[in-house]
Amino acid sequence: ISKEHDQIMEAHELLAKFYHHLLMNTTEGQEALDYLEKRGFSKEELEAFQIGWSLPNWDFTAKFLQKRGFDSEWMEKAGLIIRKEEDGSYFDRFRGRIMFPLHNEKGKVVAFSGRSLHDEKPKYLNSPETPLFNKSRLLYNFHRARPAIRKQHYAVLFEGFADVIAAASAGVETGIATMGTSLTDAHVQQIRRIADQVIICFDGDSAGIQAAFRAANLLSDNGCDIKVALIPDKLDPDDYIKAYGAEKFRNNVIETAMTLMAFKMEYYKQGKNLQDEGQKLHYIEEIVAEISKLKKAVERDYYLRQIAEQFSLSLDALKQQEKQLFFKER
Ligand code: GTP
Ligand code: MN
Ligand code: MN
Ligand code: MN
Ligand code: MN
Repeated sequence: ISKEHDQIMEAHELLAKFYHHLLMNTTEGQEALDYLEKRGFSKEELEAFQIGWSLPNWDFTAKFLQKRGFDSEWMEKAGLIIRKEEDGSYFDRFRGRIMFPLHNEKGKVVAFSGRSLHDEKPKYLNSPETPLFNKSRLLYNFHRARPAIRKQHYAVLFEGFADVIAAASAGVETGIATMGTSLTDAHVQQIRRIADQVIICFDGDSAGIQAAFRAANLLSDNGCDIKVALIPDKLDPDDYIKAYGAEKFRNNVIETAMTLMAFKMEYYKQGKNLQDEGQKLHYIEEIVAEISKLKKAVERDYYLRQIAEQFSLSLDALKQQEKQLFFKER
């Protein structure tokens, strides 16, 4: 088993280097390099994240691995190659894709995600789950970001790889991302080991806001101090950085991230017309229910006063309702 794992890691390490070389230094990689540079990724970023290019051939990787004596069955299990039923020969899983190496906590490449260059589906093709790669555990860039997260005491959680890379070049080195799936308990435990503050910075579309709400609750339930940075105009962080620049991203997005309750107050406004009496009351109920979940009495008092003032309500009435909910919760 351990020989198998060693071989799989060695193959990934070698391939990551080779894919990177193909992207940076060859005519075969030129179109992909042009695309990435047009998207604003600098050579330094491509270098730092070891981004690469897999040739659009059917068996480049299969031959590459065979020539170097790697066991084809193990390589198939690792998801690098696929066996043809008819004649037992192997072909490449990743063909003509921009290759993002996925590192484990120790910084070893254990899988890849390949992005299509044109509009082929799927947009991102991932390695399958293996004993070395579990997508509900792995956090993109965790290994690289760890020292910065430790030093600054917070992590910034993004939705996509591109966001992590763009943020790093914009001076936010604490970025990590899930594999495009929702945040799991395993992710949270991993983050908790090195940081107790997390800034969630998801895409500004409604899917992103929905996912941020879920992630915020999960992290907060696990004792993380949460902030949420909302990206305007339905952009994602990468788009935002390209449109407005690094400084605006740091100052107007990351530095001004909202507290969890401020985010929830915005969140529940979605799709409601607060001029409408009924919808307004529904909104207030939802917020008071959230307030009743807060652990600290001072915080509950603070937000109730804010709501009372905002909607010209008596604090007494709000407190009464909050108490009812509070006792129902516990
Ligand atoms: P770009 O379009 O290259 O800027 O990528 P993005 O990071 O903005 O992608 P998006 O917001 O659509 O998705 C966020 C993350 O979800 C990606 O980084 C991937 O991890 C994941 N994802 C997106 N599309 C796919 C897909 O087709 N298949 C898989 N398996 N994951 C995907
Ligand atoms: Mn998205
Ligand atoms: Mn996105
Ligand atoms: Mn994007
Ligand atoms: Mn509701």
